Amino acid sequence: MKVAHTVKDLREQVAKWHRDGLTVGFVPTMGNLHDGHLALIDEARKHADRVLASIFVNPMQFGEGEDYDNYPRTLERDRQLLERHDASLLFAPGVGEMYPLPLSEQTRVEVPGLSDILCGASRPGHFAGVSTIVCKLFNMAQPDVALFGEKDYQQLLVIRQMVRDLAMPVEIISYPTVRESDGLAMSSRNAYLSEDQRRVAPKLFTMLEETKTALMQGKSNFAALEARAVEALAVAGFEVDYFSIRDAATLSIPVAGTRQLVILAAARLGSTRLIDNLAVNPG
Ligand code: PAF
Repeated sequence: MKVAHTVKDLREQVAKWHRDGLTVGFVPTMGNLHDGHLALIDEARKHADRVLASIFVNPMQFGEGEDYDNYPRTLERDRQLLERHDASLLFAPGVGEMYPLPLSEQTRVEVPGLSDILCGASRPGHFAGVSTIVCKLFNMAQPDVALFGEKDYQQLLVIRQMVRDLAMPVEIISYPTVRESDGLAMSSRNAYLSEDQRRVAPKLFTMLEETKTALMQGKSNFAALEARAVEALAVAGFEVDYFSIRDAATLSIPVAGTRQLVILAAARLGSTRLIDNLAVNPG
């Protein structure tokens, strides 16, 4: 596996593949890879001739007081994992390569509406940081397809809308959330949890599942179901940011007749913010 640290080297390699008639599947990450990322790499290989991964901890998507400085950076370990999973190229730029200007002077890409609700309401500017860096990475790498995990469901919808609105020539493919055996969604941030918090953490998924079961049984008082889950999570020790049943396509509040639902949750255990979601099709 090759490693490129500059946009020039990245472009040269991808251009060569495209000249040779090969397609490129792209998995953007912030590193500290786990099985969820590696599943995306394996999936990318089914959709493209060559697999490109990027590792860049993007300062623009972290708010003040968030974990940018402490975010786990494990480049050599990640490189070995990517090699083992047959990735063809790793793009691992430094901050100066991605943002030659101070962040305050950098052009931004913003998807309105979708970026301002749920996680966007608690983390102002977060999704503008995500859409800006993903747009830049797409422009730099020119992939044919790009893969994103469904665990970051709101992020996935923001990126899909950006690609649609800006007519970017890349196909977005999503992949189901990869979970630990007790149901906890895999995330680099799980490493922050203490032993006690780790024992409690799967409760977030349990409440999503219980709420899904209630919806499938025809229960339709969404506010009551949400309140019950918030209460159960608070009792377990979570500080709940939101637990919300939404329209799966738009993330708006469902109306009578909305068929495809998604239950989204964000909650803190100590200083660790966990997110998860579950799709529901009550038919
Ligand atoms: O999901 C992530 O790891 C990041 O938000 C992404 C898409 C790599 C952008 O920095």
